[in-house]
Amino acid sequence: MSVIERVREQHPALKLRGLTRNPDSLASQLLKAKGVEMVAADMSDEESLVAAFKGATAIFAMTDFWKPFFAHLSSGHPDPWVVSETEEVDKGKKIAQAAATTLSTLTHFIFSSLPDPVRSSGGRIRTLAHINGKAKISQYIENLSPDPEGRKLADVTISLWCGYFMENYIEFDINKPRKRADGAFVISNPANPSIPIPHLAARNDVGLFVSALLNHPPQSLKGKPVVAASTTLTYKEAAANFSKVCGYKVKYEQMPAGQLTRSLPGIGAVFEDMFNYLNDFGFWGNMETLNADDIQVKGNLTTFEDFVRQHDWARFFADPE
Ligand SMILES: NC(=O)c1ccc[n+]([C@@H]2O[C@H](COP(=O)([O-])OP(=O)(O)OC[C@H]3O[C@@H](n4cnc5c(N)ncnc54)[C@H](OP(=O)(O)O)[C@@H]3O)[C@@H](O)[C@H]2O)c1
Repeated sequence: MSVIERVREQHPALKLRGLTRNPDSLASQLLKAKGVEMVAADMSDEESLVAAFKGATAIFAMTDFWKPFFAHLSSGHPDPWVVSETEEVDKGKKIAQAAATTLSTLTHFIFSSLPDPVRSSGGRIRTLAHINGKAKISQYIENLSPDPEGRKLADVTISLWCGYFMENYIEFDINKPRKRADGAFVISNPANPSIPIPHLAARNDVGLFVSALLNHPPQSLKGKPVVAASTTLTYKEAAANFSKVCGYKVKYEQMPAGQLTRSLPGIGAVFEDMFNYLNDFGFWGNMETLNADDIQVKGNLTTFEDFVRQHDWARFFADPE
């Protein structure tokens, strides 16, 4: 949604087409009312994507790991991580194949990806299915054969790597600030307190990066991924922002090794691997990247303090049940 909104504001001459599984949804209707053409398409159905992409000059595409993952988890699938990664990669390949059918018009294919944790960790961390799949899709795009006229999707592709969503503090249990039974206000996970985490107000700011990227021919970025983040904070600094805005003394506590794995059977171990990966290899896996300044992002990116001010945290800091 933020992509359509921000591109509408910054590139008013562009004709926008939004893809959705449900053009009758409220979100689709709101976009239609703003002049966006909303078309039905499903990432699992390549033909629907080919039709929806036809004649496009720019495509922004992302795949969602989490909703299918939680659906598999709650239906008791024996390996929700593996099946969700396989499905995400399959959708990403279909998006890429469909985009490659319109290379005669396409100048920008902006794909929301992430760095390859297997490669960055020298093969040590292999379990991060929610990241591995995106890296596999990027590899697939890189290797996709040229079209009959010799045009390659990779030549118009920009990888956009999104930072840690500020919305995680609201939407993901392990990231929520909370009041503990002993009365302390805490954020707690296995990250080292001094590890810098690039933060992004995803629901508002991804579109500012996509808008800026439309001003750059992909080849001018020389294959470097672009990171979408407005600020870089440690969790300790994030907790200090909560203290400042909410008026409670909120502290960050690093969880002891093994606690997350034990407390969330079935999913905690992968999250613990993810935090260990951040501790050892950094959020971007020590890869060379471009940032907001490099691509001249226009408009105000959301600071973390702004983000905290924009939301009501009272329910998170209420007494534990
Ligand atoms: N949390 C983080 O810190 C973080 C950081 C970096 C990257 N990410 C990645 O961000 C992704 C989630 O992003 P988000 O929260 O922005 O997702 P989201 O709000 O759930 O949006 C998902 C979008 O995908 C569309 N969609 C889903 N399945 C589809 C299908 N089969 N066919 C067509 N459209 C489909 C939905 O549209 P309709 O419902 O209208 O069809 C919706 O617009 C995850 O893959 C996650 O790994 C997260």
